[in-house]
Amino acid sequence: MSVQIAASVLSADFGHLAAEIKKLQATDIIHLDLMDGHYVPNLSFGYPLISAIRSLSDKALDAHLMVTNPDVYVEPLAEIGIQYLSFHQETVYHSHRMVQKIKSLGIKAGIALNPATPVNTLDDILPELDFVLVMSVNPGYSAQKFIPHAIDKIAQLKALKVKYPNLLIEVDGGVNGNNCRELREAGADILVSASYIFASQDYTASIHTLKGE
Ligand code: DX5
Ligand code: ZN
Repeated sequence: MSVQIAASVLSADFGHLAAEIKKLQATDIIHLDLMDGHYVPNLSFGYPLISAIRSLSDKALDAHLMVTNPDVYVEPLAEIGIQYLSFHQETVYHSHRMVQKIKSLGIKAGIALNPATPVNTLDDILPELDFVLVMSVNPGYSAQKFIPHAIDKIAQLKALKVKYPNLLIEVDGGVNGNNCRELREAGADILVSASYIFASQDYTASIHTLKGE
């Protein structure tokens, strides 16, 4: 399967949300960055905005929880109707229980790895995961500089696909037209992008560039 693009609305113009969402016909997935001002220093948006996006688009929704208590977000997000949900490795004591809960609601479950968190911390949960979210910036803001070590982590995860062929590798942070090819070749299945898409004049053309089309 060719790479999928997850447009992150963190860089959208919220004053014109409907028009922004309409311009994302070419994206496969809409990525939603939830931030609580504790786990990361920034605040983003919550359920009302996500519900609005749900009603504006039939794209798959991918919630990325950058919060200290991801557990309480799972059911409300399931009710809104999301398809992918990831939480950060460091925020949950009982990852296995959390993953089972997400999957029991019919949502694909992922764990996000910060730039300083190694892939091998996932060894014992990997068989349960639908995807891994490799952070290629420190979480909290869009438009930060890409951290190249993420490429090694993608390659490590790709090697593990021999054992877990259905595992998806998602990469998030600083993805753009210059590094997308290397990311695709390293094995990324889903490329998240906020500023590269939303700062461009033509979202469809930028999404095609990220896909290598
Ligand atoms: C960062 C978020 C990202 C962010 C990406 O904490 O998880 O999803 O929106 O923004 P860009 O693509 O601009 O780096
Ligand atoms: Zn994100």
